[in-house]
Amino acid sequence: VAARPSGRVCAAAPRAIRRAAVKVEAHKVAVLGAGGGIGQPLSLLLKMNRLVSELSLYDVANVAGVAADLSHCNTPTQVKGFTGADELAGALKGAELVVIPAGVPRKPGMTRDDLFNINAGIVKTLVEACAQHCPGAILNIISNPVNSTVPIAAEVLKKAGVYDKRKVMGVTTLDVVRANTFIAEAKGLDTRDVDVPVIGGHAGETILPLISQTTPKVLPWFTKEEIEKLTVRIQNAGTEVVEAKAGAGSATLSMAYAAARMAESVLLGLEGEQGIVECTFVESDVHPDFQYFASKVVLGRNGVESFLPLGPLSEFEQEGLVKMKDLLQKNIQTGVEFANKA
Ligand code: NAD
Ligand code: LMR
Repeated sequence: VAARPSGRVCAAAPRAIRRAAVKVEAHKVAVLGAGGGIGQPLSLLLKMNRLVSELSLYDVANVAGVAADLSHCNTPTQVKGFTGADELAGALKGAELVVIPAGVPRKPGMTRDDLFNINAGIVKTLVEACAQHCPGAILNIISNPVNSTVPIAAEVLKKAGVYDKRKVMGVTTLDVVRANTFIAEAKGLDTRDVDVPVIGGHAGETILPLISQTTPKVLPWFTKEEIEKLTVRIQNAGTEVVEAKAGAGSATLSMAYAAARMAESVLLGLEGEQGIVECTFVESDVHPDFQYFASKVVLGRNGVESFLPLGPLSEFEQEGLVKMKDLLQKNIQTGVEFANKA
């Protein structure tokens, strides 16, 4: 399968609008945590996407106003708000894609793992509801720590007897978006033309950009020091935003942009479009050390249709894979154990 450059959707919404004349199937998408910092702009981008016929916005609070507000945009997508646990079933019924940005964000000084105690329970409860009300849906999990919340979701679905490993995806698109931006800027390229795969997980050293596989090939190539610096910047980009926001949360707008791109790719896959490739954190056989791993996958009618090979890694990237081993394995194990405790 020819990989389409991951940087192809410079803006999900304009692309979707350009497609407006094309007949597409109707897709119901639910956003859980839709009243939040990511949820609101993400819902706007989905409201602008022609592939989304019905948009369910669910949150524990403040979502009725968001739904009323968005419903006035003159795009064909029908928007409905659902507030609180009693209305969750209605939000999920018939959903083909459920995007989950529900949960607390970091403040300066925190790691993503510090969010586990609150967010693990939130994701578990929401995925239990998905198992009951939309068992065949594809899940795009944004809530941190993604390295643990994805295994939690998988275990919950396994327990309910409805797990399909092709359909549970941790959203790591923001790492790719950032890598594309920083590398394009470093070489004076159009950020939309650059594609850098990012593998591993979504926290610190588990985020591993494969800069050696950047397309297009840029000359003069980076020095070793430049590659190290860029890698660290991509790994710490979330913290860069957390610190800049100084207590007001973490990345929301760039995350909404990235999640909208991922959602669009999933929906294009469901439509049967060929060659839809994204990096995502999923149950995987790509690397023998990791049960869950982010890498390039081909999306199709059932979610993840196949995995692209990791390809040749530089020595620095191979070292990065070794360095992430303990942390990523521990993050995965923490999630599995949490989901399975009584
Ligand atoms: P936020 O606090 O602005 O919004 C979270 C929303 O979740 C709120 O509206 C809240 O009411 C809602 N919520 C809480 N409990 C809920 C429940 N049980 N059911 C439904 N909704 C519930 O936070 P945010 O900035 O939108 O971030 C959300 C999450 O996304 C955080 O965990 C953050 O770390 C994560 N995040 C992930 C990435 C990534 O790349 N995967 C990037 C940015 C942020
Ligand atoms: C990000 O990468 O921006 C998110 O994971 C949020 C965070 O806490 O950094």
